[in-house]
Amino acid sequence: MLETNRLILRPMKSEDSLNLFLLNQDPEVLQWTGDQASHNLADAQRILTDHVYPQFQLYKMGRFAVLLKDGTWLGWCGLKYFPETNEVDLGYRFMKKYWGQGYATEACEACLEYGFEVLKIKKIIARAMPQNLPSIKVLQKLKMTYSGLKNDSHYPGGYVIYELSAEDYRKCKNS
Ligand SMILES: CC(C)(COP(=O)(O)OP(=O)(O)OC[C@H]1O[C@@H](n2cnc3c(N)ncnc32)[C@H](O)[C@@H]1OP(=O)(O)O)[C@@H](O)C(=O)NCCC(=O)NCCS
Repeated sequence: MLETNRLILRPMKSEDSLNLFLLNQDPEVLQWTGDQASHNLADAQRILTDHVYPQFQLYKMGRFAVLLKDGTWLGWCGLKYFPETNEVDLGYRFMKKYWGQGYATEACEACLEYGFEVLKIKKIIARAMPQNLPSIKVLQKLKMTYSGLKNDSHYPGGYVIYELSAEDYRKCKNS
């Protein structure tokens, strides 16, 4: 579990599936993610069992549920390991009514600290569709560096990649 000034980030559990389902029902939330809406609660449960839980079991990382300290469920944020490319990816998704209050940036800062200082990861990347200006703004606020545009049929217009090394993270933190 991670804690920030305003937030709790904790590993997801089965009770998160309803909020996950509701999050993945909102077309504005999904607009620049390349994902389809969940059809039912079972879809959300499958995301947890097939993708989220194994990440924690295998790699001690994953997408955390993000909550306010009063228990309000905001969304998710966290690291994901891709063994096929040996990359660690930072991702996030929040309920629309909580956008624009700095929650994504605050949650990401905690995940970067966890990744670099606890897991000792050397480099963390993030991807965003070029149209997703709020997401790109978050990555810039985290001092991640643009490292290119990649074409991918799953993402019309491709996606931009940002990255941050442990070394640069520590330099920024201490400056
Ligand atoms: C991307 C997302 C997580 C951002 O969450 P958030 O809590 O609103 O983010 P923050 O408040 O920390 O920062 C957002 C920044 O984007 C800025 N922003 C918002 N809309 C913008 C726009 N159209 N153009 C440029 N900047 C914009 C905000 O002003 C803020 O910057 P500021 O702090 O300098 O004012 C949220 O919009 C979301 O869940 N989107 C849907 C899912 C998604 O796209 N996930 C990312 C996939 S790569």
